[in-house]
Amino acid sequence: MSSSNTKSVVILPGDGIGPEVIAQARRVLAWASDQSSVALSLSDRHYGLESYQRSGEVLTAETLADVLAADAVLFGASGTNDHNDIPRDVKRRGSLLRMRKEMDVFANLRPVRMPDALLDVSPLAGGRARGIDLIFVRELTSGLYFGQPKLIEDLPDGSQRGVDTQSYTTPEIARVAEFALELARSRSGKLHSVDKSNVMESGRLWRQVVTDVHRNGHDDIALNHILGDNCGMQLVINPGQFDVILADNMFGDILSDVAGGVLGSLGMLPSASLSAADASGRRKSFFEPVHGSAPDIAGKGIANPLAAIQSVAMMLRLVLDAPELADRVDGAIDQVLARGVRTADIAVPGSIPATTVEVGDAVLAALTKD
Ligand code: NAI
Ligand code: MG
Repeated sequence: MSSSNTKSVVILPGDGIGPEVIAQARRVLAWASDQSSVALSLSDRHYGLESYQRSGEVLTAETLADVLAADAVLFGASGTNDHNDIPRDVKRRGSLLRMRKEMDVFANLRPVRMPDALLDVSPLAGGRARGIDLIFVRELTSGLYFGQPKLIEDLPDGSQRGVDTQSYTTPEIARVAEFALELARSRSGKLHSVDKSNVMESGRLWRQVVTDVHRNGHDDIALNHILGDNCGMQLVINPGQFDVILADNMFGDILSDVAGGVLGSLGMLPSASLSAADASGRRKSFFEPVHGSAPDIAGKGIANPLAAIQSVAMMLRLVLDAPELADRVDGAIDQVLARGVRTADIAVPGSIPATTVEVGDAVLAALTKD
């Protein structure tokens, strides 16, 4: 455990491109740790296939205990094709979903910002992506990915039936709605809440509870309810209308990837997940890029590390009380993008893409220059 001023960060690179992008994010964290304003203790732990091969568990009980005790967790990615060799119960016991649930990090923040330097890689023509600066608040510990029953069952006719259950309780909706409304107040004062209240009972409850929380102390915020399918379309045709978007677990998952597509690459989206504050005001926190393990490019040294590095910036801002360092990291990223040091997913058309390490080098050089 940490002394009063030293913050403990547990680092889990995980699978696929996780170790490649987290190696660069870790360098930025180490740079932050060398600054006088923060004292950090960094602990590296195995997670995923590597942990399974060493211990027979994807996530050992010791690592889970470290994760639960940490001030912040930095995570890479989970999932590889080789995971098919891992027994289902072992996978489930060590899953990313279980870790999020154990930490009760229900508020998943996914900022989506369009740097001007990347306008040439957005698939949206005519500069329609210019100035995008929105943030998803995704409910992360309930809903369709957790509801019971969840199974594949054999039917008498020899066929099978797959079942997932979308379930939300009033308190589960209310706490994330409260979080999103507070966040909206600190930004432009506008919130879009996503549901499918036209066809789903859980969606009807979602809309009702968000409306109640809004009425009860947050009615200075402009609240818009929007159906999930329409939200997907609006993100593509008019992304500039959004500021804070509140969504359940599945809509938040899907719609944030849509927003990543609008930027041009998932490699640019960071995230932070927070629990409720305890009596001393401390929240559990989990930082990870939005993207997955990207098996199609893993091991090639070409993954974009900027989502992971921006996740470190979020950690500096939200948990490590170092907003000035977070600003420097964000500024360094902008400089590197403007200079055209970019991995293949966001490369300047016609240029030679940089490697993961070269982007890390350029960010560190920009940070240490001033
Ligand atoms: P993915 O996010 O891994 O990749 C989607 C596409 O984006 C791929 O073409 C990939 O090459 C590209 N991409 C992603 N991150 C990139 C980066 N940093 N730089 C450049 N290109 C990048 O999603 P996919 O392919 O659907 O899933 C692959 C595996 O990842 C699966 O096993 C899935 O379960 C897992 N996954 C894990 C997540 C997590 O750990 N939080 C989230 C999403 C998927
Ligand atoms: Mg996803």
